[in-house]
Amino acid sequence: MDAHVERPTVSIAPNSNLRRRWSVITALILAGSFIQACFAGAMLSGTGWAWKAHSATAAVLIAATLAAGLVSVVTLRRIPHGPKLGLTLLSLAAVVCIQAATGALSAKGANLLWVHVPLGVAVFGAAARGVAGARKLGAG
Ligand code: HEM
Repeated sequence: MDAHVERPTVSIAPNSNLRRRWSVITALILAGSFIQACFAGAMLSGTGWAWKAHSATAAVLIAATLAAGLVSVVTLRRIPHGPKLGLTLLSLAAVVCIQAATGALSAKGANLLWVHVPLGVAVFGAAARGVAGARKLGAG
């Protein structure tokens, strides 16, 4: 008879683990996009190592957002609020790629910093939406 009793914790626990995991992933991406602005500021102040740090963090952010976007779209499609988080993270990956392209072109002399700097703010905003989306994951 006990076998027919619904235990809410059975379905809530996996969702809270997912929520925690994606909250950490999205918070790391948010921190990475914030630190890009710090490296950019150091670069513009003439700090030698900042240019390399900005370049290396850009590569990490491209890989991280692409991986998070693809994995979330596939694995969270049946979780409440999962598809929305997947779409947010995939869009973020696309904006980060465009951001890296405008940065690289600026470094080669193209007049694109006027796009690159505000797009950095947009990346941060989209990453913050990812954090908010992860917090809602699995909620009814
Ligand atoms: C997710 C965020 C960002 C990514 C992925 C990114 C990526 C890049 C890349 C790949 C470069 C070219 C580096 C090279 O080829 O050596 C670059 C250059 C640069 N970025 Fe960013 N960036 C981001 C955010 C920002 C932000 C927020 C700012 C400013 C507030 C900024 C300012 C600059 C500047 C000043 C340069 C140098 C351009 C030049 O040499 O003329 N970046 N960025």
